Amino acid sequence: MIRIADSALVLLIGASGSGKSTFASRHFAAETVISSDQLRGALAGDEADQQATDAAFVRLHQWLDARLAAGALAVVDATNVEWMRRTELVRRARQHGRSATAIAFDLPLELCLARNAARSRSVRAAVVRRQHDELRRGLDRLDLEGFTAVYVLRSDGEIEGAIVQIEKGPVARAL
Ligand SMILES: Nc1ncnc2c1ncn2[C@@H]1O[C@H](COP(=O)(O)OP(=O)(O)O)[C@@H](O)[C@H]1O
Ligand SMILES: [Mg+2]
Repeated sequence: MIRIADSALVLLIGASGSGKSTFASRHFAAETVISSDQLRGALAGDEADQQATDAAFVRLHQWLDARLAAGALAVVDATNVEWMRRTELVRRARQHGRSATAIAFDLPLELCLARNAARSRSVRAAVVRRQHDELRRGLDRLDLEGFTAVYVLRSDGEIEGAIVQIEKGPVARAL
């Protein structure tokens, strides 16, 4: 059971094609989700345009700050495989006195590559490989990054079976 405070920051973490956006749409109301791909799409007309990344993250941070300030649940749907990016987001949660929950999608590289390739707007395979590498290297340190709780989903079955409970109140703890 993934328990999340209704004022929390939630980071979805995983390579392209690992199922973050699918998970987000299944478990979280659309208005709670801040998607780097959507912001890229809005800015550049192309969700896969990496040139638009910097501008997209400026917007992502602004939108996140607004939600955290309002005490509203904020789910960041971005790869979040770089620890520096995660740390920046967790810092913002802390500034607003919110808890931060990590949900990592540790799926096999081949699965991420296949699902990424099957999309109409896919990123290069080399990019997916790098993201997957970085995710794997970062998994062990997630516990040290200031998250209130860290959940790692390691298969389609675990993703399928995940139950997300959003609770009133400031703190969610791992069960
Ligand atoms: N459990 C699953 N079984 C089959 N296909 C899936 C599953 N989860 C996601 N997909 C598909 O894989 C692709 C990537 O999923 P998505 O959620 O967009 O990943 P991400 O947001 O991490 O890049 C999408 O086309 C999605 O429909
Ligand atoms: Mg996505």
